[in-house]
Amino acid sequence: MHKLVVAIGASSYPIYIGSGSASFESILPHIVYSEVMIVSNPTVAQHYLAKLEKALLGKRCESVIIPDGEAFKTLDSMNIIIDALLKAKFSRQCTLIALGGGVVGDITGFAASCYQRGVDYIQVPTTLLAQVDSSVGGKTAVNHPLGKNMIGAFYQPKAVIIDVDTLATLPKREFAAGLAEVIKYGLIYDANFFAWLEQHADAIKSRDTAILSQMIERCCQIKADIVAQDERESHIRMILNFGHTFAHAIETTLGHGEILHGEAVAIGMVLATKLSEQLGLVHYHLVERLESWLNAMQLPIYIPQQCKIEPMLDAMERDKKKAGDSLRFIVLEDLGRALIKGDVPLSFVSDLIKTSY
Ligand SMILES: NC(=O)c1ccc[n+]([C@@H]2O[C@H](COP(=O)([O-])OP(=O)(O)OC[C@H]3O[C@@H](n4cnc5c(N)ncnc54)[C@H](O)[C@@H]3O)[C@@H](O)[C@H]2O)c1
Repeated sequence: MHKLVVAIGASSYPIYIGSGSASFESILPHIVYSEVMIVSNPTVAQHYLAKLEKALLGKRCESVIIPDGEAFKTLDSMNIIIDALLKAKFSRQCTLIALGGGVVGDITGFAASCYQRGVDYIQVPTTLLAQVDSSVGGKTAVNHPLGKNMIGAFYQPKAVIIDVDTLATLPKREFAAGLAEVIKYGLIYDANFFAWLEQHADAIKSRDTAILSQMIERCCQIKADIVAQDERESHIRMILNFGHTFAHAIETTLGHGEILHGEAVAIGMVLATKLSEQLGLVHYHLVERLESWLNAMQLPIYIPQQCKIEPMLDAMERDKKKAGDSLRFIVLEDLGRALIKGDVPLSFVSDLIKTSY
């Protein structure tokens, strides 16, 4: 197992990355109390719940299964977890374990932040997106009918345990969606990592365990570095939203569930890189390199035809990043270096969208 640390003072915690039969066993030393509640969904539980329970021998281990899917990232699902904790008569001295993708991770973290004013939790992410992004950094939330992630808290886990083998059962489309967040780290923070991803495209696509482990470790290291500098997203952590203003607009316009978040991020990053080029910051060659890698990973690079420009612009204006007739974007000043640009004219963005179908 490889170990990294998210260094945020008293809330610091380790991330373990490994594969093989023993990978879940590194969890035990991080569970201080005897009461443990595993939270999962039916899809993930059928593959990995028994294996995780086996690693928790000696604990009073219960489990609660919530419905699968973004549509269930709600207060109702959180209530299922709270009910289970109360029925099991769990005290404040308990630990929640999130076994699943970003949906399970975000809900479990939020439930942990609320149950009896806050209990321990551990992330065991099983999607690529959760392993490289959502399980690290302590952003927890559920959705409200009027907005995604509108109810939540910053609440750090006690540990993150990544078993790369769990990716073997992940559907192809979900795996590819996670890769969009992977290349993002290269674009915004690490030019060498971007080149490494280009060189290892075939091994990544074929899910070579050794290459995936290295790739996930580098992503977690970058996320940990950024979170350590800005836990609450008041400055540098914002660069992690690269491509996301466009992505959210595409998701909102198409209707949530029509496109995976990672797929929308892939298109959004192409647009944001084109924007950087048009602002004279990077060469067009970078747009081509990005498009070529995303193509190889079978991720989309063009805005879907049914995603009309007016509703997209409306969504962006509502996305709280507007000042007057300008919008705020994360752009690249070079490969591996991002900055926040606050005065991008709306007309500029609209021209860019028109040429990106
Ligand atoms: N907290 C953060 O910082 C942060 C960052 C990015 C995204 N997110 C959130 O993450 C969520 C998306 O996460 P996601 O992409 O992991 O989606 P997800 O949790 O819905 O998982 C995708 C699908 O894969 C299934 N699955 C999970 N692991 C599997 C495995 N090993 N084998 C087979 N199937 C498996 C799930 O059951 C689900 O059907 C969104 O709600 C988003 O808001 C949070």
